[in-house]
Amino acid sequence: MAKSKRVAVLPGDGIGVDVLREAVRLMEAIDKKRPLGLSLWHLDLGADRYLRDKTTLPKETFLEVKETCGAVLLGALGDPRVPGLEHARDILFGFRFGLELYANVRPVKCLDDKLCPLKHKHAKDIDFTVFRENTEGVYVGVGGQVRKGTPDEIAINEDINTRKGVERILRAAFEFAKANGKTRVHMADKSNAMKHAHELWYRAFFEVARDYPGIEPRHVYVDALCLYMIHEPENIQVVVTNNLFGDIVTDLGAALQGGLGMAPSANINPTSDGPGMFEPVHGSAPPLAGKDIANPFAAALTVGMMLTHLGVDGVEAVIEDAVRDCVVAGQCTRDVGGSLGTTAAMDSLVARVNDRL
Ligand code: NAD
Ligand code: IPM
Ligand code: MN
Repeated sequence: MAKSKRVAVLPGDGIGVDVLREAVRLMEAIDKKRPLGLSLWHLDLGADRYLRDKTTLPKETFLEVKETCGAVLLGALGDPRVPGLEHARDILFGFRFGLELYANVRPVKCLDDKLCPLKHKHAKDIDFTVFRENTEGVYVGVGGQVRKGTPDEIAINEDINTRKGVERILRAAFEFAKANGKTRVHMADKSNAMKHAHELWYRAFFEVARDYPGIEPRHVYVDALCLYMIHEPENIQVVVTNNLFGDIVTDLGAALQGGLGMAPSANINPTSDGPGMFEPVHGSAPPLAGKDIANPFAAALTVGMMLTHLGVDGVEAVIEDAVRDCVVAGQCTRDVGGSLGTTAAMDSLVARVNDRL
């Protein structure tokens, strides 16, 4: 079934607002050359709204997104005025868990040698995709605090791993590998230390792998994966791991791409027709907010992933090529070697996207 072209746009907080303003401009520019048929629905949710009237993610908004949208485009959530991050968790996890977006797909692709931080490695050596489990693990919030504020305090966050949840993310990674001609899938856990939860990952991994004969299943402990990501990234094609480890290794992955300003992501349910949520990997970077400093390219690449999800062919690659051109030409923000502000960097990207469409 064709996906709805209604997109809920949720800039959120901090630089989320800065980069989504530019992402919307990019979509409008693309639409002029190649009509996308999108209808944007701007949501006023985030720290400002929470501080105003305590609203986080209203149930009716969630249901309307679920029933009418093809995607949510999110900037970032997190604001020092809300130190408990109540709104961020409600909104981010509200969509990730509520829409069962069990695959957080985070490509780690270095677009140019200029962005490669590794001695003796090149951009072509860094091109893999992380499948982060997105609905379970320590993120579920099972736990509690006892004797809070006393010397005998106990704080517990349980690590929830279900057979169904583990198996479906493993399958998503193998399916992606199969569909994209990849020959190896790394699964990263800590089954040496976490003998209950991660023994399940270990066992399920090799069981699922039997259904994918041409693809080599390679098990690694997550600490070693961090080493291999730096020492031999060229051997990594697809990584599948749990929610927490996926969060951590994708910030390391972002460093291999030129920083968080270059890292896009998709939260999807590969086995349903429902909406996905698309967001740069980065957060709200409060010190940069509103200063025309933030790199808008992660958000631009995220738009590319979203358009592919919505059934728009070819534009994701155009955006990626244009981002690469901007970086090579130095027409980019300071974090990736340029001297432009957020808006000017997007101007240069829009011009290059226009040339290519
Ligand atoms: P962050 O990603 O906001 O920033 C980490 C570092 O990367 C900072 O040095 C920042 O300046 C830099 N950076 C990030 N994005 C950049 C960009 N587009 N251009 C240039 N530099 C960029 O992470 P943090 O500082 O740990 O977190 C800040 C807030 O964001 C916290 O409240 C955190 O919980 C939240 N957060 C939200 C999301 C999300 O909404 N998906 C993701 C990560 C962090
Ligand atoms: C991310 C973020 C979130 C996460 C935070 C804000 C809860 O770091 O999307 O990578 O840990 O999933
Ligand atoms: Mn993160």
